[in-house]
Amino acid sequence: MIPDERIFAARILAVDDNILNLQILKKILDQAGFIHITTTTDPTKAVDLYKEIRPDLVLLDLNMPKMDGFAVMAQLSILNPGDYLPILVLTAEEESLRFKALQSGAKDFLHKPYERLDVLLRSRNIIEVRLLYKQIKDDNATLDQKVNEQIKEIRDTRLEVIRRLAVAAELRDTGTGQHIYRMSHYSKALALAFGFTKEQGELLFTASPLHDIGKIAIPDSILLKPSRLEPHEFEIIKTHTILGAQMLAGSNSVFLKMAETIALNHHEKWDGSGYPQGIRGEEIPITGRICAVADVFDALSSDRPYKGAWTIEKTMAELRKQKGTHFDPKLIDAFESIQKEIKAVYDQN
Ligand SMILES: [Fe+2]
Ligand SMILES: [Fe+2]
Repeated sequence: MIPDERIFAARILAVDDNILNLQILKKILDQAGFIHITTTTDPTKAVDLYKEIRPDLVLLDLNMPKMDGFAVMAQLSILNPGDYLPILVLTAEEESLRFKALQSGAKDFLHKPYERLDVLLRSRNIIEVRLLYKQIKDDNATLDQKVNEQIKEIRDTRLEVIRRLAVAAELRDTGTGQHIYRMSHYSKALALAFGFTKEQGELLFTASPLHDIGKIAIPDSILLKPSRLEPHEFEIIKTHTILGAQMLAGSNSVFLKMAETIALNHHEKWDGSGYPQGIRGEEIPITGRICAVADVFDALSSDRPYKGAWTIEKTMAELRKQKGTHFDPKLIDAFESIQKEIKAVYDQN
């Protein structure tokens, strides 16, 4: 039930070319306690007034010059598809017009000459339905918003857990978590420039930080060795690709599958000289090829224990040099085209 004060606070719009009829209606509603009543004798103004007032009840005459009640209802229906239009038709017309009015969106009729109680009861019924309709709509919107907030919360938490895990792996290696941050941004930007959809780009953004997760399983004596690695030690380092893929394998999650592919393929090279499988060209999954560019770009353009950060220009010159050998040439072209975005991420650190 809707409380009386809300019923009487409802906004009412009355449209009738006959000023006398309007005055009678207004008086009945006024005296009953309704406070927001707008009237017009000009039917061509009805639609604009509806938009402005958003009434909870429209009292609408059918037979008017210039624009009849049917034309008004037709316009209102087009403007408010699916909405509950609270239209009460004022009529002295014959039966057949009433059916037509119902089909056109009228909810009920008021017969002329008006009877006070008839006007009030029928008005109240429509207003009540209209207010309940609005309440349900608002409740649904609130519910939708709550659900969306919770979905976002779950997504954010997932992303954060993944990033923290990735950072944990990286901390042993480079001593900072920043590589993960920049590299995932570069990967996403490159993927979008290459034609990935926004959704795929987001997925790559989430999955790429796990590319070196396999390093968790590499012994400290090798991973943290300050001096140059012996060839057999480097062979062990290379296994971080396979180990990472194994850690991520067997999941049904699209995201973990992508992360697995990236872990396995981010050290493959376009000419087939990479590892672990030595596959070449487009045999290398695109996500692996993209992450290879982003990973090397960041490794060169940031401080590492064994070298200082290169400038973007110097790094790009190196990538260009390895276009078609280490890197997919098309990806280097795409990477060239997004230098502004790349610089923005680079400058943040
Ligand atoms: Fe790696
Ligand atoms: Fe990396």
